[in-house]
Amino acid sequence: MERIVALGLLLLSPMLMADEDPISMLKAIQNSSELSKKAYESGKEAIVFCGYCHGVDGNSKRNRIPNLAAQNPVYLFSAFEQFGNGQRTDYVMTELAQSLTLEEKVNIAVYYSQQQVAVKEAETPEKATAGQVVYEKHCQKCHGSEGLGAENIPRLAGQPMEYVRRTLTAFRDKDPRRHSEVMRFVAERLSDEEIEGIANYLQTLNP
Ligand code: HEC
Ligand code: HEC
Repeated sequence: MERIVALGLLLLSPMLMADEDPISMLKAIQNSSELSKKAYESGKEAIVFCGYCHGVDGNSKRNRIPNLAAQNPVYLFSAFEQFGNGQRTDYVMTELAQSLTLEEKVNIAVYYSQQQVAVKEAETPEKATAGQVVYEKHCQKCHGSEGLGAENIPRLAGQPMEYVRRTLTAFRDKDPRRHSEVMRFVAERLSDEEIEGIANYLQTLNP
């Protein structure tokens, strides 16, 4: 009898691990300083390669690459899922997302979410001022008045200008590499000039 129970547990445990819900895993980590420290340390070891593009501190090395610092961990996790399942595609990220284990993704999300964003100046301050007006009218209800986002909504504050410009243009033009119903709808009516303004503004936001 004991052996049957032991066998049952043995068979069951890998299945439980594989089915573990990542959002619950993130929540459990956030609620325990011990788990949080462990996840952070493992995340730090797992991001050595990512650091070449996104920075070891999550501040990206190029203007067309997104910052990961201080990004909402649930959003970071869902970005991996989207690259993994094809909802979003990128030459490098698609392959990387498929090679990471669930645990690595969770640990990386924990690590990067705890880094600080180094904010840059606006490239054209007049454009940033115009962009702020558009942002407050159309964007802040979801992304927040300070651009911090929420659980499933990305932080935008401090994102590099070129990344925001390209991403909004991709949403507007229904580029198949980036699919989001909500953002396609929002971006539909934005002009190139408005996109340029928003991108200048967000790069300077530093709450
Ligand atoms: C060669 C450069 C490069 C490397 C290395 C790289 N990335 Fe990326 N990453 C990018 C680019 C470019 C994008 C934006 C793709 C797009 O436009 O959809 C991106 C997007 C992301 C996003 C989505 C961010 C957002 O704001 O939506 C996450 C999360 C991410 N990368 C995590 C990682 C992790 C974790 C690693 C290491 C395992 C990694 N990346 C390695 C270039 C890179
Ligand atoms: C109804 C809520 C909502 C509104 C309004 C909204 N967004 Fe978003 N936005 C989202 C969600 C949800 C996502 C995540 C989409 C995904 O998973 O790809 C997102 C993603 C983005 C991204 C991609 C961020 C990244 O790291 O890749 C940018 C840039 C962005 N929004 C800018 C804007 C701007 C600028 C406006 C106003 C013109 C706006 N959003 C209005 C909900 C909203």
